[in-house]
Amino acid sequence: MLNHMKIVSVIGARPQFIKAATISRVMKAREDLHEIILHTGQHYDENMSKIFFEELSIPVPDYNLGVGSASHARQTAMMLQGIEEVLLKEKPDWTLLYGDTNSTVAGALAASKLHIPVAHVEAGLRSYNRLMPEEINRIVTDRISDLLFAPTQTAIDNLHKEGLAEVSHLTGDVMYDSVLHYLNIIADDPERYRVEGTPDEYLLATIHRAENTDHPDHIASILDTFGKLTLPVLLPVHPRTRKIISGFSLPSNLILKEPVSYLQMLTLTKQASKVLTDSGGLQKEAYFLQTPCITLRTETEWLETLHDDWNIVTATDPSLIVDAVNSPIPTAPQSHAFGTGNAAEIIVDLFTKNC
Ligand code: UD1
Repeated sequence: MLNHMKIVSVIGARPQFIKAATISRVMKAREDLHEIILHTGQHYDENMSKIFFEELSIPVPDYNLGVGSASHARQTAMMLQGIEEVLLKEKPDWTLLYGDTNSTVAGALAASKLHIPVAHVEAGLRSYNRLMPEEINRIVTDRISDLLFAPTQTAIDNLHKEGLAEVSHLTGDVMYDSVLHYLNIIADDPERYRVEGTPDEYLLATIHRAENTDHPDHIASILDTFGKLTLPVLLPVHPRTRKIISGFSLPSNLILKEPVSYLQMLTLTKQASKVLTDSGGLQKEAYFLQTPCITLRTETEWLETLHDDWNIVTATDPSLIVDAVNSPIPTAPQSHAFGTGNAAEIIVDLFTKNC
């Protein structure tokens, strides 16, 4: 009889479902690993959560804390309580965490205080902008984790600078694995993932970061600039952004959509002329799919995507955005900075060796 290692994976928000799907698939093939999925309930709308589990074949979570929306302190506090209860009951060998959300930092704090070892996927990302809640979550999570999986050389360098070299490993990016895997699935039935009402030529936009949504003048300026662009701008709207723009008068070339599924988003990204976003993950997906990206933030953690202007950082400056949209399409091929598509295998191997 095999001695199973028990792992509790803590997830809660859209980008974590995507990363966890890839690692869960690899773990499922390993007889020596037993994964328990804990969903904090940070994202709870059907189109922010359930459709991802279904489409990406992520097992139904063993636990859903149903925490929902609240202030950062309240949301994180409710997660801490719920995660602690599950960890005390399950007594896992490891806790596995993803990315930089409040669900990540809550998992790190709850597990490390119970002396349960913590592994962090997508470690070492830094914007060096502490106004971002995600930056605080990353710093805390990396500092108290026992095993750090860094997606890029920049991330590894950041961890080394912080004295964390001993527990850090360069693995490649599971989001690259994920894009390669799901592109094959889309290729089998592309019509299925087409979003109704997609124009032939368009710009794809997403806006949801607190640094933009907490400043209505930033959003207003971004939307006003979208109105100056010649192509239609397709915007699948995050619920918090929808609430904020509900009172705005919107430019006529803006096409609002409900949040779309992951495979629909890959399809939209691949076919877009350019992408405009304040998301972290979408900057990379655009890069992997060879669609130039314009980042509506003051900095990016994904320095590798800046190469040959595949990604241009404009923040919310109207003239920089317009210039970036009108700039020539880069011609240099993408680098292999994100690995070769087997980051999940590398992570699971390292994980089992270190346990
Ligand atoms: C969170 C992450 C962010 C990540 C993003 C992916 C933190 C601090 N931020 O941001 O890093 O890029 O997820 O989408 O963890 N809402 C709904 N329905 C939902 C989820 C959210 O209506 O299913 C609304 C609520 O009004 C809520 C707001 O969106 O107050 C913000 O949600 P929250 O989970 O706090 O953060 P995100 O902005 O989604």
